[in-house]
Amino acid sequence: MSARTCLIVILAAGLGTRMRSKTPKVLHPVGGRPMLAHVIATAHQAGADRLAVVCGPDMPQVADLVGAAGMPATLHVQHERKGTGHAVLAARAALERAADDVLVLFGDTPLITPGSIMRVREALAGGADLAVLGFEAADPTGYGRLLVKGGRLVAIREEKDASDSERLVTLCNSGVMGFSGSLLPELLDAIGNRNAQGEYYLTDAVEIANARGHTVVAETGHADEVLGVNNRAQLAQCEAIFQVRARHAAMLGGATLIAPETVFFSHDTKLGADVLIEPNVVFGPAVIVEDGATIRAFSHVEGAHVKSGAVVGPYARLRPGADVGENVRIGNFVEVKKAVLEAGAKVNHLSYIGDARVGAGANVGAGTITCNYDGFSKAHTDIGAGAFIGSNSALVAPVAVGDGAIVAAGSVIVDDVPADAFAVARGRQAVKPGWAAAFRAARRKKPKD
Ligand code: UD1
Ligand code: CA
Repeated sequence: MSARTCLIVILAAGLGTRMRSKTPKVLHPVGGRPMLAHVIATAHQAGADRLAVVCGPDMPQVADLVGAAGMPATLHVQHERKGTGHAVLAARAALERAADDVLVLFGDTPLITPGSIMRVREALAGGADLAVLGFEAADPTGYGRLLVKGGRLVAIREEKDASDSERLVTLCNSGVMGFSGSLLPELLDAIGNRNAQGEYYLTDAVEIANARGHTVVAETGHADEVLGVNNRAQLAQCEAIFQVRARHAAMLGGATLIAPETVFFSHDTKLGADVLIEPNVVFGPAVIVEDGATIRAFSHVEGAHVKSGAVVGPYARLRPGADVGENVRIGNFVEVKKAVLEAGAKVNHLSYIGDARVGAGANVGAGTITCNYDGFSKAHTDIGAGAFIGSNSALVAPVAVGDGAIVAAGSVIVDDVPADAFAVARGRQAVKPGWAAAFRAARRKKPKD
């Protein structure tokens, strides 16, 4: 089958008015990336030779996604939204270059898998002129119904045009349709003629192809793959299915998730083997956790690289640029941003480490803050290998503490501390023996006011 060339057309121009959003529907994220990007990636994995994406006139962000497709891809603008058939016509320039198979996918159906797309391609390779991916819907409301007779798909009836008995049909149109490339242009012309006034339904191609004696079949996919997102409740349903898949993949990849249903992944989270993820952990985009690291409960991690054997949390926040070295310890209520923590460093309690380097084996005491911002710009804090920062210290950047230096608890460090030096920067303690007792005695003699 690989000998057959395949063009995949992705429709993404719809306004999605039921999302009630200023953002175009297909740019709403699932697993932290736009729905359309999921569909583009899946089309790529399914072995398409070329992609054609149809977007609206006011969707500049789509061009970036198409540019990053990693394969030959063209962008087409549908200037008026006159339906799915009209949208495919907007990609006419791509259709003119012949392909054996042309598949149409929807940008609002992000969970589609390469396997389902392959099933449609196999039907075409097996001799079908038109193949539609259907699914059994628990609630078919809003979907086009597949009308099948004698093993052939005879029509797709959109909900608003369906009769009462047709509405009872639960086999629905996923939106994925595969056409023999040589047949598609004439089907599109015929759709145009049928709906001169109103909406051009791509789904009308089924009845037209049947009337012309072509072979039209329905394949069946899984409902979880073809959930179409028309509103935010369906977006949340998609997200839930995405998360179930991501957790499953993480566990099969060798990570232990103690309570998988409480862990939330981004589409690009990378976990090594023997990673332990405790309950209630959220991963934002661009996280790598290497082999044997542990993310403890209630931590929020984004844009971070956690290296082998490190332990993060509970209740830690790693922000973009957190580079947590081998066997580092990040404890509770510690926030790390754009900072490199070298092997074996420890920041165990209640700290903010931002725009900094913490050298190998350094120990940063409870409540240490890197004061990295003066209200205008950020400055760097450098803590040397093996340094010891006493609790409740403020390191006012730009500042450097040398290798092996010790900073006394409660210090406000504004000047660099040389290697192996001791720095103390706080008011000296005065002790007055007996003073407290004398104070109380004096107070007791005075009448209370
Ligand atoms: C469509 C199908 C329906 C199917 C359902 C599956 C048609 C006529 N109906 O209905 O049979 O069960 O999807 O989810 O095909 N789009 C454009 N330009 C347009 C209109 C739509 O690019 O002018 C794009 C949208 O961005 C979207 C996709 O096509 O990605 C589907 O459009 P939508 O309006 O959501 O169709 P449904 O009513 O869901
Ligand atoms: Ca839809």
